Amino acid sequence: MELIVAVYDDWGIGADGTQPIALSADRKFFRETTRGAMVIVGRKTLADFPGGRPLPNRVNVVLTRQDITIDDVVICHSPEEAVELAKTAQRAMVIGGGSIYEQMLPYCDTAYVTKVHARPESDTFFPNLDADPRWEMSQVLQSGEENGVVYEMCLYKRI
Ligand SMILES: NC(=O)c1ccc[n+]([C@@H]2O[C@H](COP(=O)([O-])OP(=O)(O)OC[C@H]3O[C@@H](n4cnc5c(N)ncnc54)[C@H](OP(=O)(O)O)[C@@H]3O)[C@@H](O)[C@H]2O)c1
Repeated sequence: MELIVAVYDDWGIGADGTQPIALSADRKFFRETTRGAMVIVGRKTLADFPGGRPLPNRVNVVLTRQDITIDDVVICHSPEEAVELAKTAQRAMVIGGGSIYEQMLPYCDTAYVTKVHARPESDTFFPNLDADPRWEMSQVLQSGEENGVVYEMCLYKRI
């Protein structure tokens, strides 16, 4: 299983339920990287999508502990159930947020990490893969600058 995340310099990923700095280059990278994949997402992050709607043209697996239904998504009640569902897809990607990354990271062997070189205040964080000996950065896939903010898309692999 793979994951995709955008992190700030302190590995913060969001505040107040949203991303304080979001780059259009990263949104494009996200769209292209997740195209055709099953995406695994927490209920709170789904609520932050435009209109609270699932991502188009992808199977959206939404984790919640509640007994709810949401149009056009596959509801899932545990990380273990998400792992089983992921086995039915050619490619499955964990797309957040914080609690889902934390619980699904042990099942992932590949991470697409956009490093956004800014430090807005975050209340949600991703584990620092640079400080984790089980992970290594294998490749910088893209880099650039947008509105004065430098970014790079890095590919991390589990060792
Ligand atoms: N920078 C990035 O790349 C990126 C990407 C995605 C999100 N984010 C940010 O991450 C933040 C949201 O993260 P978050 O941690 O607050 O929320 P989240 O992970 O998106 O969703 C949390 C919800 O998922 C459900 N859930 C969690 N663990 C579960 C389990 N074991 N079994 C079943 N359901 C489970 C629960 O839903 P119920 O409450 O319905 O039970 C829980 O409230 C936002 O700031 C967002 O902008 C950043």
